Amino acid sequence: MKKSVFKNITQIGVLALVFVITLPGFIMAGDSQTVVKKHGWKTPITTENWPVDPAKLHLAGAPHSLIGLTLEQIVTDPNIQIRPDAASCMDCHDWAEEMTAESFCPRIDDFITTDQDGEGPKPQVLKDILIDWKNRNCPD
Ligand code: HEC
Repeated sequence: MKKSVFKNITQIGVLALVFVITLPGFIMAGDSQTVVKKHGWKTPITTENWPVDPAKLHLAGAPHSLIGLTLEQIVTDPNIQIRPDAASCMDCHDWAEEMTAESFCPRIDDFITTDQDGEGPKPQVLKDILIDWKNRNCPD
């Protein structure tokens, strides 16, 4: 009698142990299915995290599409040209190459409203992307 009670307790113990060991695996599997990381300073813009017509992410006349680029690349890389005039940010702004997420974030409000001294407004798609980034506190 005593022996079988002990055996039951052992079985329950083993089952509980198996459950506890496998639980984190289930939780992690659930996570990786649901989370698409939003774009950021070092996280690229993708068709998953910025779901608009992909054609809108490649401005007419621009050498590069925004898809697959990080904000850091768009702002600081002199070889990246996402604007219709095929200019990089650095071509007009000396400060662009030295930008960090922290130093570029406070410039977004002016980016949204500038008419570029009469040259016309900045690309709308880039405004939308930067507003969203700022609303999330400019993450990496
Ligand atoms: C053809 C030249 C030109 C290019 C290329 C250009 N800009 Fe500008 N930008 C201007 C002008 C002109 C202004 C308004 C005057 C000013 O403040 O410098 C301006 C204003 C800004 C401002 C607000 C003012 C400030 O200094 O914070 C930001 C931010 C900005 N641009 C970011 C960018 C980024 C990012 C890119 C690249 C995607 C870019 N610009 C590409 C000409 C340009």
